[in-house]
Amino acid sequence: MTIKEALKEASLILKNPKEASILLRHLLDYDQVQLLLNEQKPFEKYNPYQTLIKRRLSHEPIEYITEKVSFYSREFFIKQGALIPRPETEILVDYALEIKPQSVAEIGTGSGIISIMLALLIDNIKITATDISKEALEIAKINAEKFKVSDKITFVHTNYLDDIYDEFDMIISNPPYIAEGFELEENLSHEPQNALFGGKVGDEMLKEIVDIWIQRKCSYLLCEMGYDQKESMSRYLNKFNLKFYKDLAGFNRGFIAKRGF
Ligand SMILES: C[S@@+](CC[C@H](N)C(=O)[O-])C[C@H]1O[C@@H](n2cnc3c(N)ncnc32)[C@H](O)[C@@H]1O
Repeated sequence: MTIKEALKEASLILKNPKEASILLRHLLDYDQVQLLLNEQKPFEKYNPYQTLIKRRLSHEPIEYITEKVSFYSREFFIKQGALIPRPETEILVDYALEIKPQSVAEIGTGSGIISIMLALLIDNIKITATDISKEALEIAKINAEKFKVSDKITFVHTNYLDDIYDEFDMIISNPPYIAEGFELEENLSHEPQNALFGGKVGDEMLKEIVDIWIQRKCSYLLCEMGYDQKESMSRYLNKFNLKFYKDLAGFNRGFIAKRGF
């Protein structure tokens, strides 16, 4: 069997030629051009390719299989244990970049994408990034090293900002915000559940983060939230300057709160 024939077979099995090609290029460590140039060669990795195809057929996200995810046009390392970054979180980063904070606390850093993008794009920034998941923090540290920003980010294994007493210009977070018991699509079952569920109603962690921000007297709070949480967050933050933003699909997706000054 040639490489081309293996790709054709996998495209039919997966009913998705693009994913068949991504998995094959991952396995052979080829880019698109190399794949084309070598497509008539004998295919010697049939069994490993079948293993990847089976993983995908069992709804494992392709990013976990290839251990790569694109965020803000960069390629980050990802594996099971941290949430797969979503494109809408790029909007949260955009707003944070406009403010140009010099000191930031990120709650729930996951794979580290938010803190790492801020560290890459803001000179002299200092960031403390926390997570309750040790596995996620290990992935975040690998990414910080990959992008050479480890000196700008302190990763801390803790609940919210427990035992962290520094002052920050900004608290930023994309916390878990789905209501417990909400039925998820099958591919989401491979992602860490403590990265998804924010409590019985879903906005409990968001509210806890608001409380922390109020106690800390920090200038800005930027959070991603669920499309249906604008009303509750609006009520909870009614004493502050507040702006909500939408994602590219037009859903309410987050907010920026600022102390009145
Ligand atoms: C929705 S994920 C976001 C990950 C990453 N920031 C991103 O945007 O892709 C939420 C993260 O919050 C972490 N987390 C959940 N509860 C937490 C808590 N009490 N304190 C700190 N982190 C928490 C989870 O482990 C997870 O990594």
